[in-house]
Amino acid sequence: MSPRRVRKHVNPLSILKKHNFAGFGNDKPILVDVGACLGEFAEELVKKFPAKNFILFEIRVPLANKLREKFKDYENVVVFDGDAGLNFRGILEPCLKQGAKIEQIFVNFPDPWFKERHKKRRFINEKFLASCADWLPAETEFVFQTDQEFLFNETLEVVENSPFSKIAFFEGSIHGIPTHWEKQKLLEGAKIWRMRFRKN
Ligand SMILES: C[S@@+](CC[C@H](N)C(=O)[O-])C[C@H]1O[C@@H](n2cnc3c(N)ncnc32)[C@H](O)[C@@H]1O
Repeated sequence: MSPRRVRKHVNPLSILKKHNFAGFGNDKPILVDVGACLGEFAEELVKKFPAKNFILFEIRVPLANKLREKFKDYENVVVFDGDAGLNFRGILEPCLKQGAKIEQIFVNFPDPWFKERHKKRRFINEKFLASCADWLPAETEFVFQTDQEFLFNETLEVVENSPFSKIAFFEGSIHGIPTHWEKQKLLEGAKIWRMRFRKN
């Protein structure tokens, strides 16, 4: 009899690492990429907007380490591993206190967390938006893009019923930059669902 294989399931949300960030020390506008993966999108953004600062979140430590390597020569890019939701306020609020404007927060092709009981793990959820309303200003915009129609519709419902209900739908890649995932999905002929939203 062959030995039984034990498959370990690692839930990345169990990475409860909390980060501290003192801010960039300047008031340059900030763009935030949640789930930056290998940083293809962020790299193009950094090229297009060299005068801005960038905060990249990536829950998977090996990917975050690759991002750090990729952007090691850039003083205007910081990378945080662990769950972006857990670290969100702690990282972003010091920047606001330094007078920086957080212009956009990109949530591009987030993991859908299909099962009903896993919905609360979605980055954009009711509790998260309610807590963001306490400290994020109305000028800060979330950008949400996905190829999953059901996820888009469910997220839209959450956003509509949140303090961030100033919603606009848009077509085409944000800033003319398709993300890595977006490129794959467009090649497969998928439709991409896109919205931006801010505090009302
Ligand atoms: C489907 S990929 C999309 C990657 C990229 N945004 C794109 O559009 O090409 C989702 C990424 O989000 C990361 N991720 C998922 N949940 C996260 C969380 N709570 N905090 C930070 N990153 C997360 C995953 O590890 C993965 O790299």
